[in-house]
Amino acid sequence: MPKLHLITYGCQMNEYDSELVAGLLKRERYELTLVAEEADLILLNTCAIREKAEDKVFSRLGQLRTLKQQRPEILIGVMGCMAQLRQGKILERAPQVDLVFGSAAVGRVGELVERARAAGAPIVEVREAPLVKLTAKPDRPGQLKAFVTVMEGCEKFCTFCVVPVTRGRERSHPPEAVLAEVRELAAAGVREVTLLGQTVNAYGRDLTPATDLAALLTLIDEIEGIERIRFTTSNPYNLTTRLIRAIRDVPKVVEYLHLPLQSGSDEVLKRMNRGYTAARYLELIAEVAETVPGIALSTDLIVGFPGETDQDFERTVDVVARVRYDNVFAFRYSRRPGTVAAEMSDQVPDEVKAGRNARILEVAARVGAERSRALEGRVRPVLVDGRSRKDPGELTGRTRCNRVVNFDAHGLDLLGTVVPVLVTRALPHSLRGELAGAGAPGAAPATSQGRVLVAAV
Ligand code: SAH
Ligand code: F3S
Repeated sequence: MPKLHLITYGCQMNEYDSELVAGLLKRERYELTLVAEEADLILLNTCAIREKAEDKVFSRLGQLRTLKQQRPEILIGVMGCMAQLRQGKILERAPQVDLVFGSAAVGRVGELVERARAAGAPIVEVREAPLVKLTAKPDRPGQLKAFVTVMEGCEKFCTFCVVPVTRGRERSHPPEAVLAEVRELAAAGVREVTLLGQTVNAYGRDLTPATDLAALLTLIDEIEGIERIRFTTSNPYNLTTRLIRAIRDVPKVVEYLHLPLQSGSDEVLKRMNRGYTAARYLELIAEVAETVPGIALSTDLIVGFPGETDQDFERTVDVVARVRYDNVFAFRYSRRPGTVAAEMSDQVPDEVKAGRNARILEVAARVGAERSRALEGRVRPVLVDGRSRKDPGELTGRTRCNRVVNFDAHGLDLLGTVVPVLVTRALPHSLRGELAGAGAPGAAPATSQGRVLVAAV
């Protein structure tokens, strides 16, 4: 059997696409290998969101050049966002590459690989293509969590962002296609799905008949076997009261919202073309917090956007302190080719970006720790998803607000179940806990097929 070595960079959508590619190539009899040296086909699924992401790919391609010299029959392919953005230019910098293809061509990976092998010359495939829902998956026995892409592309054109260029127009998959995929996953043992889209809360408005994410969540909620539903990424511009209520009312939808702020300064938000002000963002957060008390919030921030002054930056710090996020992802602004912001004057020096990045992370860590400590002494339902990395005698899982909790399960086989855990201590990156209620030692757990059954709380 030919062997495939697949390297994935970037976001969850890329992870999803990689699974798809592995599944499709499995039909062509490729089996996955973790060792590049023994592969017949090496695919790099790339990210172009920041310059650093692209640098990583070129440096990996540099290492693979030596391998290609030793074994010229190995086929090397570059797929994903960087392939779409740089197209044939990748071959100029990395002539060892045999195949370049964008996300729209993922479904044809088998055919492209064969063509590249037969051609003896590099192939570049970056055309637009109709949207098709493909669900091929490699075998992952025991997989409890899965991503499900519900829409592709983005047409918001935030001035810093390459996604509209690399991922194309906004297109939703019809609800039936999404439901069929989730049912299949549930039947294979998956307990948690994360619905993916660049602006996932704009889901469905391009479909006929039009629908929305709230309606989709309600439908997925009915699928037996699924315990939890997450979704990401929401855009403040498209956040509706209907969706906020769905987070409260649809039982399997977790109390967690990732809502990128990017900046707390109105001037910067305007130049970013984000379509909201800081006050509007805070209004939305207030509505969310009021409707879903205790909800966990996270955000993306960009520091050092062109023209960002110290005062602008302080406004971002202020919003972080006010919202009290569970988690903050801060990025230094990176100039992306073809974007409006790349051409703006007043680019901010690297050392200023570094300083702001450090400061915002410090503030974020402080509020995040406060949020963690607030969980101490509380019992939370935990979806058990593995053994603790540090102590294999312990189990690990996640709360609905996506916090990692490690706890001693006293030898019980709880994998894949939801159990109540008392949070005993908040550590910097995880929580410590102990089994509570029905799952605690001494309590008589109801068992079925060797599994402890504790209902989702
Ligand atoms: N669809 C999402 C964003 C996807 S990109 C949304 O609606 O916000 C993920 C994150 O990368 C963005 O939220 C942004 O914070 C960051 N990012 C995007 N382009 C960037 C750039 N040029 N430089 C630095 N960070 C960037
Ligand atoms: Fe990018 Fe803005 Fe869309 S950040 S993915 S253009 S919403």
